[in-house]
Amino acid sequence: MINKGIILAGGFGTRMSPLTKAVNKQLLPIYDKPLIYYPLSVLMLAGIKNVLVIVNRGQTKEFKKILSNGERLGIKISYKEQSYPRGLPEAFILGEKFIGKDNVALILGDNFFYGQNLTKNLMKCRKLKNGAEVFLHPVRNPSLYGVAKINKKNKIEKIIEKPKKIFSNLAITGLYFFDNNSIKFSKSLKPSKRKELEIVDLLNKYKNKKKLKANFLGRGGAWLDTGSIKNFYDTSAFVSALEDRQGLKIACLEEIALNNKWITKSKINDAIKFYGNCDYAKYLKKLIKFPRK
Ligand code: DAU
Repeated sequence: MINKGIILAGGFGTRMSPLTKAVNKQLLPIYDKPLIYYPLSVLMLAGIKNVLVIVNRGQTKEFKKILSNGERLGIKISYKEQSYPRGLPEAFILGEKFIGKDNVALILGDNFFYGQNLTKNLMKCRKLKNGAEVFLHPVRNPSLYGVAKINKKNKIEKIIEKPKKIFSNLAITGLYFFDNNSIKFSKSLKPSKRKELEIVDLLNKYKNKKKLKANFLGRGGAWLDTGSIKNFYDTSAFVSALEDRQGLKIACLEEIALNNKWITKSKINDAIKFYGNCDYAKYLKKLIKFPRK
């Protein structure tokens, strides 16, 4: 069972400049909460309580202001700084001590997932014993992502990062489950033409050993991209529309922790004080008055 997860929350954020000149992208708001709440909520929904957040050099204190050591959520959050964005597989090199001898989940700090079967799907992936598992989802412009081609048996046949020629509409989302070989394999990777260690190169190592499994969010699942400013605001609008309509919040971390029985109502009261007079705190107040699933 995977009990550890890494959120990769560094990066240049150049596509979102000047918004990201002073503030890390993952701390910018997706509607009513910082972007990092969404990937963290995914790990928490998967039942993962031990989280490493990888941030840019010098930015730990900014993230700690909002997430601290995770105690408020009944989880453990630690931090590691990346001196330069050398690519996604560096997560396993920087996270070596954190991972230890265990398997690990990785989620990119700018990825947004939503959908009915998400929790069930995540729970299944957490059971990974060996190999690697990815989530694939159709997109209209695959050339912006890592792309996978699958055969009739849903086996991955080919993966390429940002292909110029389209060979499949299935993007590899930024949520991965890996066995402990991810550390060793990542260390053996060579930087690509764009001078980064590539996640597709790591995935190809698993594929070549027939150890790479594809999962699907399904048509009812949403995977949204917060890569560009337009996508960022589209994701915000999606959250705003759903939350306003249903009166239920997406990625309310305290709500997930309470449902998982990781915290009691007294911690929710602490959180209400922490947030101060805002809609998020009002939602938490309602939650302890009228608990819901
Ligand atoms: O979003 C899914 C896509 O993410 C995958 O389909 C691609 O295969 C994968 O390479 C990645 O592509 P991007 O071009 O979107 O990656 P980007 O460089 O934007 O980084 C994604 C997140 O990871 C972002 O929040 C910044 C963070 N990051 C990135 C790098 C390269 C780091 O924290 N450190 C890094 O070294």
